[in-house]
Parts: sequence; structure tokens; C-alpha cells
Amino acid sequence: MTKMWAGRFSKEADSKLDSFNTSLPFDCRMYKQDIEGSLAHSEMLAKQGIISNQDKEDIHKGLQEILEEIEQGTITFEDGYEDIHMFIEETLTNRIGDAGKRLHTARSRNDQVALDMRLYVKEEIKNIKALLLQFMKTLCQHAQMNLDTIMPGYTHLQRAQPITLAHWMMAYANMFKRDIKRLENTYDLMNECPLGSGALATTTYEIDRNMTSDLLGFSSVMDNSLDGVSDRDYCIELCSDLSILMMHLSRLSEEIIQWCSLEFHFLELDDAYSTGSSIMPQKKNPDICELIRGKTGRVYGSLFMLLTMLKGLPLAYNKDMQEDKEAVFDAIDTVKQCLEIINPMFDTLTVCKETMAHSALHGYINATDCADYLVKKGMPFRDAYHVVGKLVGYCSKQGKALNDCSLEEFKEFDSSFDEDVYVALDLKTCLLQRKALGGPSPEEVLRQIHVIEEFIKGCDDCE
Ligand code: ARG
Repeated sequence: MTKMWAGRFSKEADSKLDSFNTSLPFDCRMYKQDIEGSLAHSEMLAKQGIISNQDKEDIHKGLQEILEEIEQGTITFEDGYEDIHMFIEETLTNRIGDAGKRLHTARSRNDQVALDMRLYVKEEIKNIKALLLQFMKTLCQHAQMNLDTIMPGYTHLQRAQPITLAHWMMAYANMFKRDIKRLENTYDLMNECPLGSGALATTTYEIDRNMTSDLLGFSSVMDNSLDGVSDRDYCIELCSDLSILMMHLSRLSEEIIQWCSLEFHFLELDDAYSTGSSIMPQKKNPDICELIRGKTGRVYGSLFMLLTMLKGLPLAYNKDMQEDKEAVFDAIDTVKQCLEIINPMFDTLTVCKETMAHSALHGYINATDCADYLVKKGMPFRDAYHVVGKLVGYCSKQGKALNDCSLEEFKEFDSSFDEDVYVALDLKTCLLQRKALGGPSPEEVLRQIHVIEEFIKGCDDCE
């Protein structure tokens, strides 16, 4: 195929150059954004009298047809084009002739790629937000059902203090709320239109950049054309947001993996979302969670790829930047895949409430409450801490829980222990007492659920 720039060159390109250089196999997914940009650009050119209305009509009709045919699968992205921008422009020109050749007046591919990527990322941020909100709804629903599901909370993976499954779920819901805010922030910062930057130094034509920016739904125009074609900060920000989101999904996955083991047996995976072993008939493996944990590394990879690729680039456009696409696309695809599967997997988990309750009874997770009991009887906290430490040592030698001691045994450690210690050490009491803001008491977690539900509602209403 004759290159668009063949006039300047005296030799055909080597075929290895073509396949090395092309981005069409991966940037073809931006066909819609590329056409959208060309529709707005030609609209503006016609309004400014740079092309005729007839040319604009022909361009619009041609582009609409190309869009429909790509969507119906009747146009395929064949080899030989350098990228999606060249593919669409040449396909259009083959169909409508000179009007097609006028489309690129006052525009550059650097312009196009900067615009298309922004449009693409904007749309995907909305899609990821919607998936994340869906998952947050699932978390809220299950939290409602598990307000009283007592379990041990852990530090250092050692049983620490009583919490509920709902409290644990809402911890993740709060992380996802921040993930959404980060994505919104990225969206707001990148919501400026680069179109009109030209190759790097705008153009001598009297273009109307505000018009194309409005037509394309941006909140404003990028204020410097060198920056307009060079800026990929938003790709880095997106991958950073997605890396943090994946880190959250990975921590959640890790906990589910542990809790599905026989050692914990807090949760059971639904058969539809677990896998078996080819040799061990008894196995039910949490592959989904392990893959999410593994794919987190992949998204971090995109972030580091972008930071490294950009750090040495002089202004303005450099072909290195073509490499941004696969990194960004892969991060987006990976996150969407993970969110699409974690939601139904989580929704169908079986909660083993008895094992959780049993585990809560056997780890001295009410030891802090026992110390607090003595404090309420007048003892300074550090002394109470010491007494209960000795008591726990005694009980663990005897192989029993604190509540299993007789009042006489309690009194051997401190005379202020009384009958009411049994109520104080009851896990239900321990839970109900933890009603400080942010705590695990059912009443307080219900409030936390309402906060997240309000947040979700606010986001849904914005759509
Ligand atoms: N395919 C290129 C990219 O993705 C488009 C811009 C090419 N511009 C150029 N002057 N070679 O970055």
C-alpha cells in the first residue's frame, strides 16, 4: 500500500517497519472516539468556513456509515494501516474522495490520538465506577444480613477483639468509596479538550477550539498546545487509581482465600465460582480470588510502564507514547474483568456463622474487655492489663476461656471481680459496648451502611 507520506520518500518501507510501527491491532478499539472527534472537527471547520458545508455533509455521512459498518462487523481492520486514525481517514477518502482529503485540514494525528485516548478513558472511568458501585451495593446487602455475625477481628493474623462480618464488609466498602472518589478526581482533572493543539503548535487556520470542546463534552480546552499533545498524566493517574483499587480487591481476595481454607472455614465458595483439582478429588479451590491477587501485579505493571516510558521524553509528541495504549487498555480490561466476577462470587458465598462464633470464643478476644471491667471498678488501666495478662496465662494453661473461670478463680487474681464479670465478658456485651463511631456494634455498623448507601445513591443520581 502506498504510504500517505510517500511523496517525501524515495523507497518503500520495509515490511518489518510496518508491523513494528503499527498500532492498529490495539488502537482499533478507539474507532468510535476517532469518528466522534472527526465529526466534531469537520463541524467546526465548516462553521469557520474552512471547508464547505457540502464537504462536511459528505464527511458526516461517510463517517456514520463507517461507524455502522464497523459495529456490524462488515468492515474489518485489515493490515497495512499505521493506526486507527489513518485507517478511518483512508477508508473515508476511498469512499467520498476529495471531501475526505479535506478532513485533516488544521489537525494532526498527534491531536487525534490525544483526543481519542481522553474520550476513551473518560468512558471507561464511568464503566468502572458503575461496576464498583454495583459491588458496593452487594457489600451493603450482605452487611445488613450479618450485623450480628460475631467473629474475631485480627491483628498480626492473631485473634484480637470481637467484630462482626458486617463491620469487616463495610471496611472494604469504605476503601471502594475512596477508589471511586479517586476516579472522579482523575476524571475532573482530565476533562479538558486537547483538539486543536495540532502537531504541537496549533494551526494558522482560524479554528474554534471551544466549539469542538463543547461538542465533545469536555468542561474546558487545554490551555497549551505542547502540553495538549504531550500530556499523558491522566493515564498514569488512572493506572494509579486502578492499582490502588486492585490492591483493595487483592486484600479482600486474600482474606477470602484464607477463610475458605479448612483451617478457618469461615466461608464456603459456591460451586459455580470455585474450581477443582485434576488429581485431588476433595479440592475446591478459590481460583478467582487467586487470579485477582495475581492480576494486581499486572495493573501495577501498567503503572510502572507508563511512568518509565514518559520520564525521559522531550516535548512534544514522541512515538514512545504509542506504547501507552496497551498498558492503559490492559489495566482497564483487567479491572473490569475482576469486578465483573468478584461481585457474583461474593454474592454467593456461604457464611459459616458457627465457625466464626466458635473461633470468637476461643482466642481471649474479650481480654481487653476484662481489663476494661476492672478499670470500671476503679483500677488504673495498666494495672488491669497486668492482672488480665496473668489471668489469660492461667486460663491458657488450663485450656479454658476467661468466662469458664469460677468466681473464686477470678478473685484469686483480683478481689474486685464480681458476678457481673460474666455479663461483661459475654461476647454480645463486648460487641454492643463497641458503639463508638466507626465501631462494630450492630447499631453503629447500620449507620455506616447508611452512609455508604447514601454515597451510592448520590453517584447513581449523577448518572
Ligand atoms: N499511533 C500513534 C500513537 O498511538 C498516533 C500518533 C502518531 N503521530 C505521529 N506523528 N506519528 O501514538
